[in-house]
Amino acid sequence: MAELVVLKLGGSVLTDKKKALTANKKVIARLAKEVGEVINSAQVRVVVVHGAGSFGHILAKKYGLQGGVHDASQRIGFAETHAAVTELSQLIAREFAKNNVPAIPVYPLLTARQQNKKLVSFNHQVVKDLLFAGLTPIVPGDVVLDGALAGSICSGDASAPWLARALEAKRMVFGVDVEGVCTTDPKKDRKAVLIPEITSKNINQVLASLGGSSAPDVTGGMRGKIMELAEQAKATPITIVNALKPGRVRDALLGKQVTGTRVLF
Ligand code: IPE
Repeated sequence: MAELVVLKLGGSVLTDKKKALTANKKVIARLAKEVGEVINSAQVRVVVVHGAGSFGHILAKKYGLQGGVHDASQRIGFAETHAAVTELSQLIAREFAKNNVPAIPVYPLLTARQQNKKLVSFNHQVVKDLLFAGLTPIVPGDVVLDGALAGSICSGDASAPWLARALEAKRMVFGVDVEGVCTTDPKKDRKAVLIPEITSKNINQVLASLGGSSAPDVTGGMRGKIMELAEQAKATPITIVNALKPGRVRDALLGKQVTGTRVLF
């Protein structure tokens, strides 16, 4: 059977993060074409996890959902946020269909549970069955039920590694809006250098090379992110690529050598 890859597309790639409910339609159409080429080559099966971008974060902030769902207004916000997320997933699914990919949204709200903002279960059987039927599951970042907080936000960054592990995916591809993991934040620092590979051999060196004394926050943030990626990569190797550059997501899905960061443990 064709190997399985979990693709996570960031919300900042798919949407204009500053404008509420605004999709980057051209980028979505191009990515649908790239993923379509890969899936229809029959070499690879893909589970697509996508961020919510401006279909999620703006509403979640407006209603203060980061701290849970505690009153009637927040329950409205919870419902509104889920509705917005489903709109983005449907929009992506329609673009995929135009490229001969029968994509079906699977909402974490209905299949996953969290405890204090931490993902504790994801019924991956439905994802598995969709793949078996030759369909392509699309899993958004979503609001979900939370045993401690009634509701909380489940990021695609949590569901992607969960599904990759549960479905024994061959690798994960993270499509982001920068070249990959860099020594400092490339959006703020022109001297940021791309780290092409992170393995058990160089991780200590990579962590030591991060940032400078003038940027302790950036360093702390990057350090945490790299440690998390390393942990995830123990189960599933990761390739992080710039999804705004045509062809990178396609090549990474196919397992080709591509500009980005490979995390292998
Ligand atoms: C966020 O999902 C979900 C909501 C705010 C409802 P992600 O964390 O996966 O989204 P991005 O990639 O940051 O936009």
